[in-house]
Amino acid sequence: MRVPFLNGRAVERAVSPERAVEAVRDAFVAYAQGEWTMPPKVYVPAYPAGDFRAMPALGGGHALLKWVTSFPGNPARGLPTVMGVVLLSDAANGAPRALLDAAAVTALRTGAAAVLAAETVGRADAETAAVIGAGVNGRATARTFIARGREPLIWDVYSERAAGVANELGCRVAQSRHDALAADLLVTVTPAREALIVPGTLRPGQHVSLMGADGPGKAEIAVEELARVRVFCDDWEQASHNGDLVHAVEAGVVGRDDVTELGAVLAGSAEGRRSSEEATAFDSTGLAIQDLAIALAALEGLDELDEDVPSLEF
Ligand SMILES: NC(=O)c1ccc[n+]([C@@H]2O[C@H](COP(=O)([O-])OP(=O)(O)OC[C@H]3O[C@@H](n4cnc5c(N)ncnc54)[C@H](O)[C@@H]3O)[C@@H](O)[C@H]2O)c1
Repeated sequence: MRVPFLNGRAVERAVSPERAVEAVRDAFVAYAQGEWTMPPKVYVPAYPAGDFRAMPALGGGHALLKWVTSFPGNPARGLPTVMGVVLLSDAANGAPRALLDAAAVTALRTGAAAVLAAETVGRADAETAAVIGAGVNGRATARTFIARGREPLIWDVYSERAAGVANELGCRVAQSRHDALAADLLVTVTPAREALIVPGTLRPGQHVSLMGADGPGKAEIAVEELARVRVFCDDWEQASHNGDLVHAVEAGVVGRDDVTELGAVLAGSAEGRRSSEEATAFDSTGLAIQDLAIALAALEGLDELDEDVPSLEF
């Protein structure tokens, strides 16, 4: 049995950001409707350096396991924060169908979820967009905004990182963090441990997709600010244990009834934005069903790649 291996370049070539948004949207709906399933993500801590995550999902006739890292100190050592592998198997007989680079799959689905949430619960007449954090997943988010017809401002604590992404993608660096924070559709994709979004930052009608805080100790928004706005998340169980939400839940200021899952909004079973004055936040910790969506799209796109990908013999 020969199983294709898609490295990062092959994944990026097989799945466009537009296709990623479509695939991730369908996955959120299938999960909300109980057609796709996802056992809880398992964290394997290796602190203080970082952690490993094992993320399984089942849907679309396939099963997936992503084995992936978050090692925030890695860029300083010339290594990516997020690395690992995705194994896609046939759910009818268990046969492996593809191995894929986990960083590329993660970046595509993270950018897709950030922008999808912004488009779904952000104001329909939103004009400006910004991405704070110009790392691997911030770049992917900016790329997705651009594919969806927006020109995001980029900001990073390291100005050369913001400039690098802006030059590569043909968008602009924000003049200041303050300018980036003012965008109608804001996405934060940082490993920050101190809130970037302090109390009073978000104005009426503004939306933020909080993508960075996906494990212990991380926080992109202050508890008071999260308690003040309308909150959406990717998955209550996961986000309330490992996302920005955990701090607000522990403080007792946000509970299950205060938070709406994005999939329910997309499936039409929960209310999205209620008024143009509402400030909204989407808390993401990243779901294996999103990875499954991208892995399936990559397998589909494989036939159209004008290059051979290597395969492994089992
Ligand atoms: N929710 C999800 O689905 C999801 C998916 C992937 C990664 N993540 C998380 O997102 C974060 C970023 O991941 P990555 O792979 O892009 O990391 P990365 O290391 O490639 O990039 C992070 C960037 O954020 C910048 N940064 C750090 N603190 C900042 C601050 N306070 N303000 C502005 N910029 C700041 C860094 O300079 C760096 O350029 C990590 O915490 C990671 O675990 C979440």
